[in-house]
Order: sequence, then structure tokens, then C-alpha cells
Amino acid sequence: MKISTSSLILTGIIVILAASLISVLIFMKNQPIADRGIQPLVEIAPMEPNSEQWGINFPNQWSTFQMTATNNNRTVFGGSVPFSKLEDDPRLVVLFAGMAFSKEYNEDRGHMHSLQDVREIDRVDETTPGTCYSCKSANNPSLWDKMGPTDFYKTKFYELGEQIEQPIGCANCHEAGTMKLIVTNPALEEALKEQGKDWRTFTRQEMRTVVCANCHVEYYFAGEGKYLTFPWDKGTNIDQIIAYYNEIGFKDWTYPETETPMLKAQHPEYELYTQNSTHYNAGVACADCHMPYTRDGAAKFSTHNVQSPLLNAQAACGQCHTDVAFATGRVAIIQQQVRETMDAAQDALIDAIDAMKIAAASPNVNAELLNEARQLHRDAQMYWDFIAAENSMGFHNPSEALRALSKAIDLARQAQLKAIQAVNGSTTLQGQ
Ligand code: HEC
Ligand code: HEC
Ligand code: HEC
Ligand code: HEC
Repeated sequence: MKISTSSLILTGIIVILAASLISVLIFMKNQPIADRGIQPLVEIAPMEPNSEQWGINFPNQWSTFQMTATNNNRTVFGGSVPFSKLEDDPRLVVLFAGMAFSKEYNEDRGHMHSLQDVREIDRVDETTPGTCYSCKSANNPSLWDKMGPTDFYKTKFYELGEQIEQPIGCANCHEAGTMKLIVTNPALEEALKEQGKDWRTFTRQEMRTVVCANCHVEYYFAGEGKYLTFPWDKGTNIDQIIAYYNEIGFKDWTYPETETPMLKAQHPEYELYTQNSTHYNAGVACADCHMPYTRDGAAKFSTHNVQSPLLNAQAACGQCHTDVAFATGRVAIIQQQVRETMDAAQDALIDAIDAMKIAAASPNVNAELLNEARQLHRDAQMYWDFIAAENSMGFHNPSEALRALSKAIDLARQAQLKAIQAVNGSTTLQGQ
């Protein structure tokens, strides 16, 4: 069969047309939902710290983001009222004795409050490093870029503060221009790299979780320069994190009277959630629950009023669960069970501390056994605090939360018995 030139040209044209149609479709699919076909009004400078500027182009995201400054609702275990965790549960004063968290420890609230809240904390003093600003301000990405992370962390908090005026904002999560979700925190970039991962290859759905890991993670300040570091070299579950801290011999503070080198957990939402939780394994992202799509007339956009999803459960859970009342009912049950187990862990830790104080003060204590008790006390408290400092009262990963707490109870009771043994030589019951 002969193929004419004209039919070849025609086929060529059809192929080119089809290809361009496909690329237009792909392009449109990659466009942020709210802006399809809408030209940006102003050009945003790279890493622009001022969210109001971005807000000119994206009024829906900006107006919902601002709601995090005014929403002020409490849920049973969360919400945005910055109540004192110490007044709520005085056992925490004992568990954090000798460190700053026993002075002030408040419930978290919305992103727009981040800067004000870190500045008002009693725990901040003239020795506080600039590192403490790391997850609080939209000025950070441009400062990290300008100063380099090492100098940023070395600068004292009050001194660095002169260059920081914005709370968390668009620049912490988005690349200007493309509006892509990005990793902005150098510590996250480095921790991922350490595990052989490059976030630039992640899918969009993965980034809807990873972007929160810029801040909602466990971290520590390494060395004299207080370099912000995630303890992820061995992996991100609680066992691996404790093993990492034990290997490098890191401590946050020394517990008074028992002389235990202690660890303080930060807010490991990312680590707990991604540890084989039902939702994570089903492909659900942080943003699915905390930033559900919302409608404003014809526009459909992600609400930037990031808060407890229990305050807008219909939007947050209803997109996947037809029976929202059942889903939130389960949250209440899970949180109550975790709270009860957490109570048992706290009581066990306090019993261990009491026994260890007596042992440490006793003139003929077996020092080796007391040291073993210290290791158990240190690990037990971290297993407990990993869940206590995490902000969902176990909901993000109920089975892992209960596993960590039962580990805490077991280790704390072992610490108590070791302390008794260190004084009495034995913990077994004597026969009649
Ligand atoms: C399946 C839905 C869901 C997913 C996914 C999810 N969360 Fe949550 N989150 C919740 C619920 C429910 C609570 C409990 C809220 C409460 O007690 O009021 C919560 C609580 C929180 C809180 C405390 C809120 C408060 O009111 O104090 C933070 C912070 C948080 N989540 C961050 C994250 C991060 C970061 C991720 C991803 C690593 C994530 N969440 C993934 C549902 C979810
Ligand atoms: C740049 C750091 C940063 C990033 C990125 C970040 N957060 Fe936060 N988040 C914070 C800080 C700091 C607070 C506590 C603010 C306060 O209490 O003043 C907070 C508070 C919250 C709260 C509690 C709000 C309330 O009303 O109690 C939720 C929920 C939350 N974040 C979820 C998320 C989710 C989901 C993501 C990812 C989409 C995310 N955050 C990304 C730093 C961050
Ligand atoms: C804590 C992280 C975070 C901050 C801060 C943040 N965003 Fe977003 N933003 C997200 C996430 C997550 C999405 C969903 C992206 C996706 O689905 O790919 C999103 C989506 C968007 C989109 C795409 C359309 C949509 O609504 O889904 C726009 C536009 C946007 N954000 C604008 C802004 C502006 C403007 C600001 C500052 C006022 C801002 N964002 C602050 C996390 C953030
Ligand atoms: C993006 C979809 C999605 C969203 C949003 C979502 N879920 Fe789920 N949820 C799932 C999937 C998938 C499962 C796995 C079980 C299944 O296949 O039915 C699940 C399971 C559950 C379970 C049982 C799992 C367990 O560990 O016991 C509860 C409870 C639950 N969801 C509550 C909620 C609540 C509360 C919210 C809102 C804060 C929510 N979910 C938001 C998809 C979602």
C-alpha cells in the first residue's frame, strides 16, 4: 500500500495536536486548583516573608490562614485555647522537675500565634539560642538562605529576633511563583538526605504530609553551635530515636536528686503518624484532615485555617467517611483509652522517681544497680513523653501510642524495682 505525502502530513498534524492537547491537560492538572486560568496579580519575591503580599494573589488561602489568629475553641484534649498543661496535670511539674518545662508548658494554638507565643514563654532567657525560632517564622527561609543555618543557630535568640517580624507564613511551605510545596527547614533536608531520600522526587500526596515535617517533628540542638538536628539516622520510630539518643549520649537535662540524664520529646506528630498508622498506610496526608477542601462560591481551595479537625469534622472526615459521627465517636474512645494508659505511665514514672531518690540518698547504695535504674528511668520517660508531647492524644496512631505507653509503664516499674534492689539487695518476697 502506498502512503501519500498528504496523509503523512495529516497524520503528523493530528499527532502534534494530540500531543499539545495532552500537555495542556497535564499542565492544567498541575495548576493549583484555585488559580486555573487566573493570572497572578503581583509577583512574589522568592522566600517573601510577608504573607500579606502572597495574599493579594491568593485571597482565599490568606483569609483562612488569618483565622488561625482568632479561632479560640477547645476540644476535650486539643483545640486552640493555650491552657496551662501544668495546671491541668500537676504531675508534669514532678516529671519535668529541674528543667524549663516545669515552669511553663502550654497547649499549642494556631499558626498565626507562633511568633508571639515563643516570645512570651518564660522558658526563653538571654542564653536561648536562635535555633528556637526555627519553626516559628516566615522570615526563616530567607534568613537561612542569607546567613546560612550555622550562623542562624549560633546567633542568640534576642539578637536574631531583630530580624524576625513575621509569624509562620506562606514562605514556610510554598515556593513563590510555582506555589509548590517545599522543604524549607535545613534540618529536614539533611535528615531526609541521611536516609537516602530526596523530597524533590516525592509525589504531591507525600508532600502534603512532608511539608508539615518542617516543624511537627522530634528534634534536638546538636553541639555548642546548637545546630538543629532530627534524630532520624537509625529511623523515625520511637525505639530507633531512643537508640540514637543513647548512642550519642545526648541529654536535655539532669533530673534532680536521681541524677538521671533525661530526654525531652518535642512534638513528634510526623514520626508517630507515619509509623504504620491506618490512615498513613491508606495514603491519607496531614493536609487531608487539617486542610480539607472548602468552597467559596465557585472557588474550591484548601482551607488554611489549620486546627483540630474535630472543629470541622464534616469537611475534615466527611470527604472519606460517610458516617462522620461514628468516626469522631471513635476519636473520643481512642483518646480516652490513650489518656488512661498515659495516666498509668505517669504514676509509674513518679513511683520510680520516688524510689530512685531514696536510693540515690542512701549511703550504701549499689551504684551499678542505681545506674541501671537511671537508664530505665530515662528510656521510660521518653517513651511516655513521645506520646504525651505529641498533640493528638494518640489518635494519629492509636496502636503505636498504646505500645509506646505500655513500654513506658514496664520500664518505669523496672526502674522502681532496680532502685529498691540497689538499696535492699533484693526485690523478691522473703519466705515465711
Ligand atoms: C485522619 C485525620 C488526621 C490526619 C491524617 C492527621 N491528623 Fe492531626 N489530628 C487529627 C485529630 C482528630 C486530632 C485531635 C484533635 C483534638 O483532640 O481536638 C489531631 C490533632 C493534631 C494536632 C493538635 C491539634 C490541637 O488542637 O491541638 C496537631 C498539631 C496535628 N494533629 C498535626 C498533624 C500532622 C503534622 C499530621 C501529619 C503528620 C496530622 N496531624 C495528620 C486528625 C488527623
Ligand atoms: C514553620 C513551622 C510549621 C509548619 C511548616 C507547620 N506547623 Fe503546625 N504549628 C507550628 C507551631 C509552632 C505551632 C504552635 C503555635 C502556637 O501554639 O503558638 C503549630 C500548631 C499547629 C496546630 C495546632 C493548631 C491549634 O489551633 O491548636 C495544628 C493542628 C498544626 N500546627 C498542624 C499543621 C499541619 C497539618 C501542617 C502541615 C500542613 C503544619 N502544621 C505545618 C509550626 C508549623
Ligand atoms: C503549613 C504549610 C502551609 C502554609 C503556611 C501555607 N500553605 Fe498554602 N498549601 C499548603 C498545603 C498542604 C496545600 C495543598 C497543596 C496540594 O494539595 O498540593 C496548600 C495549597 C495552596 C494553594 C493551592 C490551592 C489550594 O488551595 O489547594 C495556594 C494558592 C496556597 N496554598 C496559597 C497559600 C498562601 C497565600 C499562603 C500564605 C497566606 C499559604 N498558602 C500558606 C500548605 C501551606
Ligand atoms: C482521605 C480519606 C480519609 C480522611 C480525610 C479521613 N479518613 Fe479515617 N480512614 C480512612 C481510611 C482509608 C481508613 C482505613 C479503614 C478503611 O479502609 O475503612 C480510615 C479509618 C479510620 C478509622 C478506623 C481506624 C482505626 O485505626 O481504628 C477511624 C476511627 C477514622 N478513620 C476516623 C477518621 C476521622 C475522625 C477523620 C477526620 C478527622 C478521618 N478518619 C479522616 C480514610 C480517611
